[in-house]
Amino acid sequence: MHTGMWENRITQENVIRLKERGFYIIPPDTGRLASGGYGAGRFPDTGTILGHIKKILGKDGDMAGINIVVTAGGTQEPIDPVRVIGNRSSGKMGYAIAEAARDRGASVTLITAPTSLPVPVGVEVVNVETADQMKEAVEKAVSRSSALIMAAAVADFRAASISAQKIKKESGNLVLELVPTPDILSGINGNFIKVGFAAESQDLVANACRKVERKKLDFIVANDITEKDSGFGADTNRVIIIGQDGMPEELPLMSKRAVADRILDRVVRLLAAKGNKK
Ligand code: CTP
Repeated sequence: MHTGMWENRITQENVIRLKERGFYIIPPDTGRLASGGYGAGRFPDTGTILGHIKKILGKDGDMAGINIVVTAGGTQEPIDPVRVIGNRSSGKMGYAIAEAARDRGASVTLITAPTSLPVPVGVEVVNVETADQMKEAVEKAVSRSSALIMAAAVADFRAASISAQKIKKESGNLVLELVPTPDILSGINGNFIKVGFAAESQDLVANACRKVERKKLDFIVANDITEKDSGFGADTNRVIIIGQDGMPEELPLMSKRAVADRILDRVVRLLAAKGNKK
């Protein structure tokens, strides 16, 4: 419909009445309308409608009543107004976890660095760019959550100073001074399940085990980035999950969505063992 019709008081009163009777309303999308104008009134795309349906179907799932924070994507550290230091993370793994948790009834906060993925429906999305911004958003969200899953590829270094103007190439070679960013996972502790990721190019299990200890994690999801069809940008992943007992659980190559559900199975088990729901 046209924005004027959607926003009309009679329509809105009827929408409220329908909601009071238990109907779930998928609001119209905002964008270009048949009239040539711009506003609310577009028929939502199929992905959006499916997202709403999955959320409704999952409301009594095994994560109902659980608040969970998921981070995704690769942070971007600015060098000047044009350039950033980034990494190859697509955000697909984190988004798959957020959607899987939503479909199991959880209230999900997705803290995401820039990605090209569609915004998941029924999830609270917090957009950030830098490691510092992600740290702040995680600290705020985790205080009311039962689990933190850090699937984001957080930049380990940022420029020591950000140039206010675009750096010109005339000056020839450029040397950038980089300083470490805060380690978000290591620095945040509390009464929640803490899950990390480890993308490694060598000594996968040994490196991942060290991170479980160093970052005080309940478990880590490790993958070998040199492997085909796994990790950055792929729709599939082959991971090894390692808990505090150091026993690696090797999963076969599967869709990131299937990996997400295996991760959440562990979270649910750990929460049940702690008798903890928030
Ligand atoms: N992580 C984080 N803050 C950082 C860097 C990483 O919270 N500044 C998190 C990631 O989200 C991931 C886990 O820590 O869940 C491991 O990230 P990884 O980059 O593999 O580990 P690092 O500690 O950065 O170690 P290294 O790069 O030396 O392997």
